[in-house]
Amino acid sequence: MICWGRFALILLTLSCLIVDEILRPVTYASKLPSKVLDFKGDSSNNASCNTNFHGKRWAVLIAGSRGYENYRHQADVCHAYQLLKKGGLKDENIIVFMYDDIAFDKNNFRPGVIINKPNGEDVYKGVPKDYTGQHVNVNNFYAVILGNKSALTGGSGKVVDSGPNDRIFIYYTDHGGPGVLVMPNGEFVFADDLNDVLKRKHAAKGYKSMVFYLEACESGSIFEGLLPDNLDIYATTASNATEDSFATYCPDEPEAPRVEYNTCLGDLYSVSWLEDSDKHDQRKETLHKQYEVVQMRTEKGDGFSHQGSHVMQYGDKKLSNECLYSYMGTNPANDNDTSVEYASSPSTLRVVNQRDVNLLYLWHKYHKAPAGSHEKLEAQKLLHDEISLRKHVDYSINHIGELLYGNGSSSKVLETVRPSGQPIVDDWNCFKMLVSTYEKYCGSLSRYGTQYLRAIANMCNTGVTMEQMVTASTQTCS
Ligand SMILES: *[C@@H]1O[C@H](CO)[C@@H](O)[C@H](O)[C@H]1NC(C)=O
Ligand SMILES: *[C@@H]1O[C@H](CO)[C@@H](O)[C@H](O)[C@H]1NC(C)=O
Ligand SMILES: *[C@@H]1O[C@H](CO)[C@@H](O)[C@H](O)[C@H]1NC(C)=O
Ligand SMILES: *[C@@H]1O[C@H](CO)[C@@H](O)[C@H](O)[C@H]1NC(C)=O
Ligand SMILES: *[C@@H]1O[C@H](CO)[C@@H](O)[C@H](O)[C@H]1NC(C)=O
Repeated sequence: MICWGRFALILLTLSCLIVDEILRPVTYASKLPSKVLDFKGDSSNNASCNTNFHGKRWAVLIAGSRGYENYRHQADVCHAYQLLKKGGLKDENIIVFMYDDIAFDKNNFRPGVIINKPNGEDVYKGVPKDYTGQHVNVNNFYAVILGNKSALTGGSGKVVDSGPNDRIFIYYTDHGGPGVLVMPNGEFVFADDLNDVLKRKHAAKGYKSMVFYLEACESGSIFEGLLPDNLDIYATTASNATEDSFATYCPDEPEAPRVEYNTCLGDLYSVSWLEDSDKHDQRKETLHKQYEVVQMRTEKGDGFSHQGSHVMQYGDKKLSNECLYSYMGTNPANDNDTSVEYASSPSTLRVVNQRDVNLLYLWHKYHKAPAGSHEKLEAQKLLHDEISLRKHVDYSINHIGELLYGNGSSSKVLETVRPSGQPIVDDWNCFKMLVSTYEKYCGSLSRYGTQYLRAIANMCNTGVTMEQMVTASTQTCS
């Protein structure tokens, strides 16, 4: 909340009106309990793994963002690569999607280096550049999972060329919203399409079992009511279907990151599993145990104001009795690890809701630039633009709602949350059409606006037609 005051100040100096309307409170800093999570005597951790299964391990790692303000997503993915590599997976079986604009960004004061925690080691070195830049897109993502080389455009050509005895691990980190994940280029990943791709992979006998780790705002909505339990897939998500996920290792932490980093270095759910896996013999830890550890750290996130998100499990939960080893291998350096501690938490960490991280970033840029400099003016303009965009999206969606439902009941309809177990929408074609209609007349929803996808889903759920949406959007935005 300390920084909230500063935000307010800067916003005032920019004469940007009513702050509450624009920013949901930036959530802040925190003490995690410094005591470690002690699982001594917990028999569920006495895992006995099947360490001689036949078949290969495959992994697909995707950072869905670009831009230095999103440093953390590519840092998470690079870190995941290093973990799997140390675990013994081969490069030919690890497929990496990252925009690759961070390591040599002009704002990175350590060119060629990416870290995933304060004073952390370089995680960038050696990461395969399978799909970078414009090739990080939804089409290539599906083609890679399905092992369909002829559907690829660009990139290394590596795909998950797997068979019925193989294990597949998919890890995605970025922004999302109800029913969608964002990619740095082009179309969203829509939840129904993604689940269809997984079903097709299953039908093609493309794996023995699959684990999907997913970090994004509202990430639960990607699987809620959509991922059946008979596909041999176990998924966990950073947040439930209705809440944000959180970035961590953000600027202004008392103990680092170094002041040169204006940007958050990791995401809370992601660093929770990565740091847990980094230090343990993965033949002795089950997926379920990791879920518990990650769930606890991610939910507590911020011991000060209790900000954090609910880690969720979907699909075939029985699979979580398997060891991490089956998907991630294990680092021989941890062979003698007998620790019963799952203390993946530094004593202090700062978390910021994913959607507000870019405001924090721009504010830092503005604050640090010398008075009167070109840089300062530029940062001020970017901050101003971001705030205007947010106001525009807020206004447009609300106004469209008022036109469709009348002034009295609009917000009630738009904010309806369906009971858990149900997907956000039944008619996905309607949803996609209304989203593209909105964007055609009112401009990009942007990462900030993805939170309104539930409102658009509710329009479909209440029978709004394309024609009605066109009329409301033109009246609102032209
Ligand atoms: C834990 O593992 C040890 C060694 O494999 C075994 O002797 C013991 O019975 C196991 N305990 C439980 C509760 O499964
Ligand atoms: C692979 O992709 C191509 C091009 O999109 C498509 O025509 C073909 O049916 C796909 N093959 C399989 C096995 O899905
Ligand atoms: C999801 O998260 C929200 C916000 O933290 C919370 O109010 C709600 O109870 C959660 N729902 C479930 C099913 O966990
Ligand atoms: C683990 O312990 C064994 C036996 O004491 C030893 O030979 C080996 O070097 C140790 N491995 C590691 C990675 O410390
Ligand atoms: C709804 O009411 C507000 C406040 O009275 C007004 O500004 C807005 O234009 C109304 N919207 C519609 C669509 O009539």
